[in-house]
Amino acid sequence: MYKYKKDFPIFKNTKFYNKDLIYLDNSATTQKPQIVIDEYAKFYENFNANIYRGIYRLSEEATSMYEGARTSIAKFINAKSNEIVFTRNTTESLNLVVLSFAKSILKKNDLVVLSVVEHHSNIVPWLILQKEIGFRIEYIDINKESFELENIDKYLELKPKIVSITQVSNVTGVENNIKEIIRKAHLKGAFVIIDAAQSVPHKKIDVKDLDCDFLAFSAHKMLGPVGIGILFGKEDLLERMNPVLGGGEMILSVDQDSCTFKEAPFKFEAGTVNFADAIVFKKSIEYLDGIGMDNIEKYIKELSGYTYENLSKVNGLKIYGQKNNSGIYSFSLKAVHSHDIASFLDEDNIAIRAGHHCAQVLMNRFSVYALSRVSIYIYNTKQDIDNLCISLSKISDLF
Ligand SMILES: Cc1ncc(COP(=O)(O)O)c(C=O)c1O
Repeated sequence: MYKYKKDFPIFKNTKFYNKDLIYLDNSATTQKPQIVIDEYAKFYENFNANIYRGIYRLSEEATSMYEGARTSIAKFINAKSNEIVFTRNTTESLNLVVLSFAKSILKKNDLVVLSVVEHHSNIVPWLILQKEIGFRIEYIDINKESFELENIDKYLELKPKIVSITQVSNVTGVENNIKEIIRKAHLKGAFVIIDAAQSVPHKKIDVKDLDCDFLAFSAHKMLGPVGIGILFGKEDLLERMNPVLGGGEMILSVDQDSCTFKEAPFKFEAGTVNFADAIVFKKSIEYLDGIGMDNIEKYIKELSGYTYENLSKVNGLKIYGQKNNSGIYSFSLKAVHSHDIASFLDEDNIAIRAGHHCAQVLMNRFSVYALSRVSIYIYNTKQDIDNLCISLSKISDLF
């Protein structure tokens, strides 16, 4: 896998403090390979026109590229094209399900099950809707030793209408057995929404095999552009949902008193959509497919194990999680504040994340305000991890 690093110009160009960049904040966003960056120029230099609207060749070319991107992304997760809605990011995808699907089926005394490891994007939209409707929310707890979600059975006994959980925690890196959770939830008649922001970049995801009702992810966390997210929804569920945003291109007809909508997914894509980024995202998918998602999964698993073992050797470092296959680890180091750790590491041009990781419910569960987090991707190497641990040991020695 080491050979792929040279495809990413940022590692040649960016030498803050005269040091090579060691980028370990991939859960926040990933770097972009040259062919993805070039795709922007190619599109704007040759094909730029607003899609759907133009009765001329250029617009038709751009439209077919946009729909081609939808088809590629559908294939990537084994969905049908009309089950793929383009959004801005995972957050918007989850908000769309909450504000349209969930809002249409939830009543005052209904129950929604989330988990304590959720990112704010899978908590806050629910809290906003709860204010309006007044349904109950239960949070699946984690086992504080294994960091895995508790058995879901007792939560399903409460007969939730919806279960909405993350596949991989962006804090602990622990993967939930969502296939089993989905199977059990369906047996009890609940719909299941999956936040796959941290899993789709790392392994082959097959929505048919998982049988999830909805699944959300972001392009920018998988070598793609910022500003494009995906909502997968089962065809029949998308069809019965109402749009949240109204405007151009999502309608069939409008008069002064009423309007009718296009079919899914078009009724959810109001106004001029982010067609350029969707088209560029297709290039990222091709790049990942070229490497092979199985190879990526294998490599990240191996480097993740190496990261865990070496972080564990740093004096005074405590990992909030177990060895995992995602390469995401959050930790404290003695009593040093996570912002100070990040600043110290920055002097060695090592980029990590510090703070609450948009997971304050989990921070409360851990009784901490903030943690430091490293997260790896395909261009990271064992050398990166060695250098990280040397720098962390230097910090440890100071305190
Ligand atoms: C698990 C998880 N869910 C959702 C999100 C939100 O993603 P975005 O900011 O792209 O909407 C993130 C971002 O880090 C995440 O890690």
